[in-house]
Amino acid sequence: MAQTVDDLGSDCSLGSDRSLGSDRSLVLDRPDDWHVHFRDGDVLADVVTATARQFGRALVMPNLKPPVTSADQALAYRARILSSLPSDSTFEPWMTLYLTDRTSAEMVRDAKRSGCVLAFKLYPAGATTNSDSGVTDLRNCRAALAEMERQGVVLCLHGEVTGPHDDIFDREALFISRVLQPLRQDFPALRLVFEHITTEEAASYVAQADGPICATITPQHLLFNRNRMFQGGLRPHFYCLPVLKREHHRLALIKAATGGSPRFFLGTDTAPHPRHLKEADCGCAGCFSALTALELYAQVFDQQGALHRLEAFASHHGADFYGLPRARSKVLLRRRPQRVPQACRFGSEEVVPLLAGETIEWTLEGPVAAQD
Ligand code: DOR
Ligand code: ZN
Repeated sequence: MAQTVDDLGSDCSLGSDRSLGSDRSLVLDRPDDWHVHFRDGDVLADVVTATARQFGRALVMPNLKPPVTSADQALAYRARILSSLPSDSTFEPWMTLYLTDRTSAEMVRDAKRSGCVLAFKLYPAGATTNSDSGVTDLRNCRAALAEMERQGVVLCLHGEVTGPHDDIFDREALFISRVLQPLRQDFPALRLVFEHITTEEAASYVAQADGPICATITPQHLLFNRNRMFQGGLRPHFYCLPVLKREHHRLALIKAATGGSPRFFLGTDTAPHPRHLKEADCGCAGCFSALTALELYAQVFDQQGALHRLEAFASHHGADFYGLPRARSKVLLRRRPQRVPQACRFGSEEVVPLLAGETIEWTLEGPVAAQD
């Protein structure tokens, strides 16, 4: 249960659901991020550090160039992630493998045996950043999907169709009828996560479906509708995929995230690109939210009067679905304004964080000792 703290500096009086003044604080079981892009090479340490400051665990997406398709590649990538962390860090990366037309049942068994891979990730070919190796037709993956269903390995979905005539704002809703429903008919016990949902259709589908399906929701899709991409001009740092949608979709996502259903949990989709590839004539999709993700979720839950449900969304539902233990450490969030930096180091370049230069309402103060 989430706990509130009046004044951590002096008496750490913890109590649930306490109504506090404007200096409101909240102690949570340490949250996890079930959808991150860490990239690789000289930017890795900068990106991993940002997430590890906020979260205890993260599920790492495999869309590197070339993609992470085998258990051996995932183990090697995980080792690079761990070696980019300070030696006293307790942060745990969990890995995904990139589903391709060539993923075999044997590769699924290897993934399960590796002990570090929690899921495969479906990118429909051409759907987003580095998805050219993505699946061209799910019929090519039947043996792998059947094995995942047998082994209880999760399939994470980038839920968008990619037809050249499919309107970009309709791609997620079309994915449900064209891909998701047939997939679930064929593999009813396959454990699924509909990633970074952006629409009322996806939220209500996941809320009502029979069987093992959950969804992640990003901070940007809770905070902004599509107007934000065009506010006073073209705003590339608000461009991600699936793209921001209309206001009624955002409201449906807020209802899903703050409503307490265990089917919805935190996944930021933090996706850094160097500034020059965002502010370009063909800018990359992705919002770098890792720096202040938890604070942004807190702002949304606070505005809904639902802070008491933040901990379940951020720290429990995802771990429960993935069959991992809940966190044993805690973090403290305080309602204290902070200014988001204009830019952060990204290897030899820089990355612009979500809401760069703007003031947000909450601040993550860091870990706190468990009290009982
Ligand atoms: O905006 C996005 N960026 N959406 C994705 O699906 C991929 C991600 C990336 O890797 O940059
Ligand atoms: Zn992603």
